[in-house]
Amino acid sequence: MCGIIGYSGSGDAVPVLVNGLKRMEYRGYDSAGIALLGKLPKSGLDFWVRRAEGRVTNLESKLKDHLLAHQGIAHTRWATHGAPTEINAHPHCAGSVSLVHNGIIENHAEIKDRLIAEGISFQSQTDTEVFAQLLNYEFSRLLKSNKGESPRQLVLKALQVSGAQALGHYSVLFMVKECPGSLFALHMGAPVVACKAEGVFVASDLQALLEYGRDLFFLKPGQILVAHPDSLEFFKASDLSLEDVSSERIEWAAEKVEKDGYEHFMLKEMFEQPLTVAETLSGRLPQDEDSPFLWDNPIAHQEIWSKSKRVTLVACGTAYHAAMIGKYYFEKMARVPVDVELASEFRYRDPVIDQGHLIGVISQSGETADTLAALRMARELGLDTFSICNVPGSTIARESQLSYPTKAGPEIGVASTKAFTNQLTILCALAADIGRLKGVDSARRKGVAQALARLPQDLERVLSFSDEFMEMGAGLSPLKTILFIGRGMMYPIALEGALKLKEITYRHAEGYAAGELKHGPIAMVDEKLAAVVFGPDDDVLAKTLSNLEEVRARNGKIIGIGSDDNSAFKKISDEYIGLKSLHWSVAPMAYVIPAQFISYGLAKHLGCDIDKPRNLAKSVTVE
Ligand code: M6R
Repeated sequence: MCGIIGYSGSGDAVPVLVNGLKRMEYRGYDSAGIALLGKLPKSGLDFWVRRAEGRVTNLESKLKDHLLAHQGIAHTRWATHGAPTEINAHPHCAGSVSLVHNGIIENHAEIKDRLIAEGISFQSQTDTEVFAQLLNYEFSRLLKSNKGESPRQLVLKALQVSGAQALGHYSVLFMVKECPGSLFALHMGAPVVACKAEGVFVASDLQALLEYGRDLFFLKPGQILVAHPDSLEFFKASDLSLEDVSSERIEWAAEKVEKDGYEHFMLKEMFEQPLTVAETLSGRLPQDEDSPFLWDNPIAHQEIWSKSKRVTLVACGTAYHAAMIGKYYFEKMARVPVDVELASEFRYRDPVIDQGHLIGVISQSGETADTLAALRMARELGLDTFSICNVPGSTIARESQLSYPTKAGPEIGVASTKAFTNQLTILCALAADIGRLKGVDSARRKGVAQALARLPQDLERVLSFSDEFMEMGAGLSPLKTILFIGRGMMYPIALEGALKLKEITYRHAEGYAAGELKHGPIAMVDEKLAAVVFGPDDDVLAKTLSNLEEVRARNGKIIGIGSDDNSAFKKISDEYIGLKSLHWSVAPMAYVIPAQFISYGLAKHLGCDIDKPRNLAKSVTVE
């Protein structure tokens, strides 16, 4: 969840590191820090460290008279071990070592006790300092008994031993005083990516590197990187043998990581939905309704799906809501039974596995710890797997057999928006294609490809109501509870609406299937509650309208989002916005947009920090 960056070259390290931190601040933003290795006026070659609580701008104000150094590491933190204080902020220094870290070292307490018994004292409550101290301890021991090996070789050995002792999913990036110019990184389950340009750059996120290079080197778990200003070397941590790692070209534009004049990334990303959906579909749509969709790996796609009899979709948060809608798509269009699982639950269960059971994981970042663990568990059970990920080169995309990338581009706002519409687009296309592959003669499937082809224009039309949606959202401020309601595919949209609203406004919201109201939540309804209702013209709308009568009878406020010619729905609503009638298959992509803007409108009205909501981080790489 933390962001790490390192640089070694001929330029001033500070602007590069601060810039990288700003690009990754969405990963965690409760404290930040920087360490440089350079010549200090009094002590000669040494670490120059500054750390600050809160945002990167707080750190920046401590860097005005920074040391001119050509090498450094930096970190933006989402606290796991120890409060978000300056003392717990990274980098942590221990003797020869200055280190930043991402992820969790599970047995830190045990290692710490051992080191304390050896007379080592600690400043912070972090697991990071434990690794820094352990590494320094091992390095010092090797240095004392050294028989002519280079300091670099000793660092590698110390890292090998430390990495084997420290359990968990994490990565570390560090500098060693005895090896000026070099940066060392170890991938133990949390991403590390590097590039070489005018110097070398190492980070946890590709977004931090795009302006320096597009040919990126992604480390694999169990690999060590040694970066010098003009070279990158990779080693296997288990035996320190040299490894060949080839670069991958990433086509994301660096400008996409800018706000482009929008007040928030979230706002920009909501408006990017039509274009990105077009990008995701580009080159994939079939010639006619009986032809296949075009996937990157058609032979494996055909082989794996032909033998699949049952699918389990696994994800977290917003991606889980996409999976719920995926179930409707697959059942309707492919007649394939689908289970939908929260990754954090699935991984600890003992699922019943049948022949032909296919596991699909959905993740914007491709790094979510629980989703990744579920994928690995599926692979260990010998199951076929596929993924729908947005970040190229991400661990989940790499480790799944089939990969169906969404092309939403970088999503920086912590609240996921465009990734969701793109996940739905892939799920819809995939289900339609599998229906064709399995010979399901379903009239329902017909027209889906045309509906997808029209989707970007349909989404543009929905976006033309953005001001009205935001106004609706601001109008919710006096209310104590917001219910989001829908049936069928609108039920996951209701859940997603409630999640968006909670995340960025901190207000109480719940998503409910309309038919469930009278089984409990109706008890909450009074004049201080509003129900935001998603009701496209489908075969369950009449039922939803009956449920709304019950809300109205108890003085709840009704905010309706339906089709523009539905007078009954309009009549029962206190406020109503009508959207053009849409093909059933693309209604979820369209109806989530009002939910996003309503939440955004309320958050803006309340003055919330929309792109960086409290307590959250974009990529949840810890359990
Ligand atoms: O990167 P992922 O899609 O795997 O992330 C899953 C969730 O953490 C994510 O969707 C989270 O719920 C978002 N903040 C929702 O807006």
